[in-house]
Amino acid sequence: MTIKAEIHCHIEGAADPELVTRLARKYNADTSDFIQNGSYVWHDFTSFLNSYDQASALFRTAEDYRLLAHDYFRRLAEQGAIYGEVFGSSDHAAQMGIDYNELVEAISDGIDDANKDHGIEGRIIMTCVRHLGPDAALSVAQLVTSNPHPKVTGFGMGGDERAFTIEDFAPAFDIAKDGGLGLTSHAGEFGGPQSVIDTLDHLDVARIGHGVRSIEDEALVERLAEEQIVLEVCPGSNISLSVFPSFEQHPLNRLRDAGVAVTLNSDDPPFFHTNLEREYDIAVEHFGFNDDDLDTCTRTALQAAFVDEPTRQQLLKRLDNSAP
Ligand code: ADE
Ligand code: ZN
Repeated sequence: MTIKAEIHCHIEGAADPELVTRLARKYNADTSDFIQNGSYVWHDFTSFLNSYDQASALFRTAEDYRLLAHDYFRRLAEQGAIYGEVFGSSDHAAQMGIDYNELVEAISDGIDDANKDHGIEGRIIMTCVRHLGPDAALSVAQLVTSNPHPKVTGFGMGGDERAFTIEDFAPAFDIAKDGGLGLTSHAGEFGGPQSVIDTLDHLDVARIGHGVRSIEDEALVERLAEEQIVLEVCPGSNISLSVFPSFEQHPLNRLRDAGVAVTLNSDDPPFFHTNLEREYDIAVEHFGFNDDDLDTCTRTALQAAFVDEPTRQQLLKRLDNSAP
């Protein structure tokens, strides 16, 4: 099986509808608004974020998050992944009364559970939610840096890219950077190329979540290639959310051909009827990737991973040793 690595997946967005339905039974909650016939229902980005928030609201204890993390990393390992980074959202957990350190320990324990059985490595990128605003983002950055944890190695931002301006979030990212965290932010998904330019100019990120709409600006594509900014590309998510009308019109290959470093990721797998294995299959079926191209994506993800150097070298060795 192709060795894989994923560096862009939201933990709440990875919740299988079956697990969410089980939790709803436990909490006597109604899911009919956002789960129908075993699938999440939504029709655009705003209603997707709404379904996502409703599913998240059923993770109410640290144990629920531990189960979720274990479930996600176990599945990822079964798909051939040796490494995964998940986005955690302390804002979502706090809304359900879960304390920051409890959340981190729970996700970390879930990763350890999967590591024991499958040898998969995992790290956590704590994220702020853009549409909750810069003050909330600052609080998340302060929480993360004042409660260091060996598995929390990154800081990021998700949510609605059209809210506020990027500069508003620079203070939060500056704190995270001073705290030694790896930085990434969603941009160039629902925002155009200017959103990516602003992110590079103001947030000092090493990676961009999505970034695919950079293709609309030739100079930006050149800059991404020159600065070797790694794009966390999520093709299945982009098509589901209609960022592009079809895989044929998706710019993955045009970005690759221009020398941009790209990786393959699932984003919010059950919401988009995907997983990492399916994304690798999509790359083969729709973008003509061969085995070497897939290995290059895995290698790029490991090189861009927010991990300590000895762990990175061990992971790269596992990838190299798997080559036929
Ligand atoms: N949060 C979860 N999935 C997201 C996405 N695709 N874009 C922005 N924020 C998100
Ligand atoms: Zn995302």
